[in-house]
Amino acid sequence: MSSGPLALNFSEANSSEIFAQRLPQSNDKRLPQALAAVVMHLHQVIRELRPTPADWRNVIAFLTDVGHASDERRQEWVLLSDLFGASALVEEINSRRPKGATPNTVRGPFFRADAPELPSGSDISLDGIGERLEVFACVRDLDGHPIAAAEVITWQANAEGFYENQQPDLQPEFNLRGIFRADEEGGFCYRTVKPSGYRVPDDGPVGKLLRQAGYPLCRPAHLHFIVRAPGFETITTHVYDASDPHLGEDAIFGVKEALVREFKRLDGKGAPVWRLDFTFVMARARQGADA
Ligand code: BEZ
Ligand code: FE
Repeated sequence: MSSGPLALNFSEANSSEIFAQRLPQSNDKRLPQALAAVVMHLHQVIRELRPTPADWRNVIAFLTDVGHASDERRQEWVLLSDLFGASALVEEINSRRPKGATPNTVRGPFFRADAPELPSGSDISLDGIGERLEVFACVRDLDGHPIAAAEVITWQANAEGFYENQQPDLQPEFNLRGIFRADEEGGFCYRTVKPSGYRVPDDGPVGKLLRQAGYPLCRPAHLHFIVRAPGFETITTHVYDASDPHLGEDAIFGVKEALVREFKRLDGKGAPVWRLDFTFVMARARQGADA
């Protein structure tokens, strides 16, 4: 630990240096390095914004509220990370894929691991409310070979933009969720309803803060997928409806050109029926990388 005049005279000019000097000075220790970097940037923000003690108490109260708003069903910290672009940036850094492979986006808070496994062709809309959508998809490697038996988990919002676990009293359990297996050709299909875009939840401290700041909270209409197969990097992604007017202002930075598709309207009388075709392209797992 350092001593001497620097350690005794904490000032605006030397605050982060003093903090860093108290940490072990070895280059191979990630935690002290990470702490020094976080504190350096935090002090920089404080010097720039110059909060009063009352302002700072508000910051602490906000962080306390974020903690209190998080539990088994709701993860307000994840929402904070998603809306600040931190989750998307971590994905960008860690899942850079070869050209042609399907990119990752964040998983989001509405995933459930316990969705039912269903035969290809099933209807995942358990209440039948909304315009019909038929999804035809396949899973391939970068050379175009089918990946038979890939596992595909899907979940989505309903035609009003709500997930089943946001409306446990209004939607049947597991509505608009399912797990499928690709066949020998790597294909699977299912029936559902066309999802609507939605606003990310703004009834908690994170949504309230961003709403106050005038930040757009929209999520363009999308379907969620997790695609897994042995020997390949797991794909966690969304497929977006090309007709959504909010593609350019997604609150969580998930929209990428490779993930936007036209939902094609099928000819026919009566209520519209839509069709989506999508190919998931998996990259081989890198040695030593997390799935
Ligand atoms: C979602 O797409 O389900 C989502 C992702 C991040 C934050 C909120 C919602
Ligand atoms: Fe979503």
